Amino acid sequence: MKLTDMDDQERAALQALHRRLGRAHLQLRLGLEDEAERQGLPPLAQRLHPGYWLQHPRLLHTALKLLGLRERARRNTLRIQLRRRVVALPRLPAAFDGFTLLHLSDLHLDVGAAFQQALIERVRGVAHDACVITGDFRYRTSGPVEEALGALAALRPHLGDEVLAVLGNHDSIRMVPAMEALGLRVLLNESVALRRGAAALFVAGIDDAHHFQAHNLHKAVEHIPADGCALLLSHAPEPYRQAAHCGFDLMLCGHTHGGQLCLPGGIPVLTCSGAPRALARGAWRHGAMQGYTSVGCGSSVLDVRLNCLPEITVHTLVRG
Ligand SMILES: [Fe+2]
Repeated sequence: MKLTDMDDQERAALQALHRRLGRAHLQLRLGLEDEAERQGLPPLAQRLHPGYWLQHPRLLHTALKLLGLRERARRNTLRIQLRRRVVALPRLPAAFDGFTLLHLSDLHLDVGAAFQQALIERVRGVAHDACVITGDFRYRTSGPVEEALGALAALRPHLGDEVLAVLGNHDSIRMVPAMEALGLRVLLNESVALRRGAAALFVAGIDDAHHFQAHNLHKAVEHIPADGCALLLSHAPEPYRQAAHCGFDLMLCGHTHGGQLCLPGGIPVLTCSGAPRALARGAWRHGAMQGYTSVGCGSSVLDVRLNCLPEITVHTLVRG
């Protein structure tokens, strides 16, 4: 869409993003998003790949129905688990000892009203100091954003005062002004300092590294002191090596859905990620950096989960 086709409010919002992000970042995002809106059938080589058919909603629906698993897989999407874990960080300031992060990922909110209600019920009353969301608010990778934003508005009162988020490969950069109007701080290769007295805990967030490859770690760490304890929010786990060498203490991410459809034992069929399978779910480490990949609270392609229940996660940070 050209600036001349937009209404005044959208034009002003995009001009503000242009000033904030710079021309190249915004242009890259909008260009790839417009390509996705126009996309017809993918090239033949892509359609011949088995992964393409495993991610085809109608085929998947039919296959699960024939196997008698469709209903169970749908019900599983509403059985959101609360996982609690303790993360020991040697550089954590004493003032942040015991700090809790509620981590949501891959919400895909516009999948339907039953899921939206289940997520609100799961999050309601879970005590935390800050909420972090590692992307994928929208169900599809293109199309309208209004329903996802409406569902986010309904969820927002349950997330607390401090909410930090990054965009995923399903999200449009056009969603950012509305998300920020709801009081989320969307980190687009940016960082913030959470403060307790004189102490600071730095949280950086990068734009999607999986599809858009719009992440920029150099910019994200720009205002973080070398001796500061720093967390990184990333939608996808792919830039884990670069993040570790940038000096992050902890990387929180999602994107893989833990496979979403898994073999017994939680073994993913597909992870949709270029990162090693060891990073497809749960806790991991690379060098001095710890990481955690959430299996996500939502589902995409189809509202199904097998052998991989959705989760919200509370990370309690401790010194050590
Ligand atoms: Fe996702």
